[in-house]
Amino acid sequence: MRAQLASLALLAGSSAAPIAAHEEPTVRNANHIFNAIHSSMREWGSTLYHNGMSFFLASVPAGTQLYHGTGNPNPTAGMEWLSFELEQAILFARLPRPPIEPHNPRRGPAYGQGQEPLSSGPEAGEESGWLHTYAAARDLRLLYIDGLSAARSNNGTQDSQKRIFLNDTIHESQIVDEAEAADEMCRILRETWDDRLDGILRMEIGTEIILCSFERDLEFVRAVRAKPIKSLDKGNRSKKKTLADLQPDVASWLSVASRYHGIGGNRVRLNYDHFVTAFAHDLDIFGGESKKYRPRLEHLESSSLEPIRQELETLVMTYDPSEPSFNWQAITDMIVERYSHTLKYLTSGIPDEAEVRENIERLLQPFVEYHRRNITLEADRCKTQFIPFLAPTQGTAALAVRSVAQEICWALLEAWEADYKTTMSKITYLVEYLSWTTWKECTGCKDNEICMVPVSPLGAAEDYDHPTCRDVKNPDIPGPRYWGGFYIPSPDAE
Ligand SMILES: *[C@@H]1O[C@H](CO)[C@@H](O)[C@H](O)[C@H]1NC(C)=O
Ligand SMILES: *[C@@H]1O[C@H](CO)[C@@H](O)[C@H](O)[C@H]1NC(C)=O
Ligand SMILES: *[C@@H]1O[C@H](CO)[C@@H](O)[C@H](O)[C@H]1NC(C)=O
Ligand SMILES: *[C@@H]1O[C@H](CO)[C@@H](O)[C@H](O)[C@H]1NC(C)=O
Repeated sequence: MRAQLASLALLAGSSAAPIAAHEEPTVRNANHIFNAIHSSMREWGSTLYHNGMSFFLASVPAGTQLYHGTGNPNPTAGMEWLSFELEQAILFARLPRPPIEPHNPRRGPAYGQGQEPLSSGPEAGEESGWLHTYAAARDLRLLYIDGLSAARSNNGTQDSQKRIFLNDTIHESQIVDEAEAADEMCRILRETWDDRLDGILRMEIGTEIILCSFERDLEFVRAVRAKPIKSLDKGNRSKKKTLADLQPDVASWLSVASRYHGIGGNRVRLNYDHFVTAFAHDLDIFGGESKKYRPRLEHLESSSLEPIRQELETLVMTYDPSEPSFNWQAITDMIVERYSHTLKYLTSGIPDEAEVRENIERLLQPFVEYHRRNITLEADRCKTQFIPFLAPTQGTAALAVRSVAQEICWALLEAWEADYKTTMSKITYLVEYLSWTTWKECTGCKDNEICMVPVSPLGAAEDYDHPTCRDVKNPDIPGPRYWGGFYIPSPDAE
């Protein structure tokens, strides 16, 4: 543990000493696993920690409404994209589309994304597509690939699916369109994994499902004609639209921001008892091109990833996504909520020494028996505060969450009565180690603003480091691009 913390200190460029020595079993990268659990299925954390390293079994309850935008009013068959939000799907219904070829109904993702130019149909500028509503015909069984795994970028968002799930069978140069990669994913689900899963769950701007068989797993509810495309084009019919122009509009930004902390409605349930994460493996994922808290897999030997691939296969073949499991995310929430504000304040440079000690004491006081101090007992009470007695003690999530709770408690207890320099270095180190996504949240955005964070391919680099409240009509600002590429103003910007 000390060695791990020490290497993390190096990584973080921090010279602070390891927080605490303790002997409980733990996992590698417990802090990163804790954050992966906390950010799972949440747009905010998944965008900040966009290079996901984990795979979870996910289940979507029967009857859940799901949306699909396309150029055709008839129910879709085969593999296609679905969104949880109307505001995302409708963008795809509004794209000008060439006439449907019956033998090849696919023209790339209808929900999802890609960079291929779309040929403008003869009626481009006037035509509009259709917004389909479906209901899950039964509980959908999915593989959730965490991070911003639907975002096609060179920055590592697709490392885990390409290198682990797809086993290096698809290379960037070979992908003609996203549909080809999605077909290969469905082939693996069907053939290698005995049809035990129905599709893939991923995030980019919004949350999508790649569903392998629409006709088998969905009830078609309705198709509604979308608002004509020309209103988006502002009358410029000569402009050839591409999917890259498919900028989120005000409605979709608002919908994304409203889902920053989860899509709500218990529409997706993840199994945290059994999941696979590269963080738990003995791999140099923070080497190569990776940056702080943005791990990569691209520089690793294929053979070194084989144990994770095997673990993923075992996960899928052993557990059913709908089986009950313990909600470790709810525990991470309680921990983050209790400590987040105070820790941020302590490292803000605002409080003086007396106030620092007061704040630390306020956090610890409920665990301390003042007339009979015993730091071991205090730490025990503190670290188990939010963990039910019947919660699992084994498994990656259990070890990671318990271990992070323990680090927090020991760091605070040791900081409390140390000399001031040591106090501050322990707190600073703890904050660096935890790296909670809550510390990047904006405060006080107005009703016409969203807290802007770059979501591939949009966003300025400065908005990754310091997300800021921005006008929802044009939340992306010019300046060096976080994801590379060029600045394109929002369609709603004047
Ligand atoms: C319409 O789009 C074309 C191609 O992008 C551009 O050259 C032209 O200036 C645009 N016209 C107007 C009126 O915006
Ligand atoms: C991944 O591909 C390699 C090379 O083709 C193969 O030996 C290995 O069995 C594959 N792994 C899995 C989990 O299918
Ligand atoms: C603190 O409590 C533990 C557990 O009850 C006990 O083993 C230990 O001796 C105590 N330490 C002191 C200094 O009293
Ligand atoms: C992402 O990749 C692009 C293109 O390679 C690059 O310009 C950009 O700096 C990268 N961004 C990050 C955060 O690594």
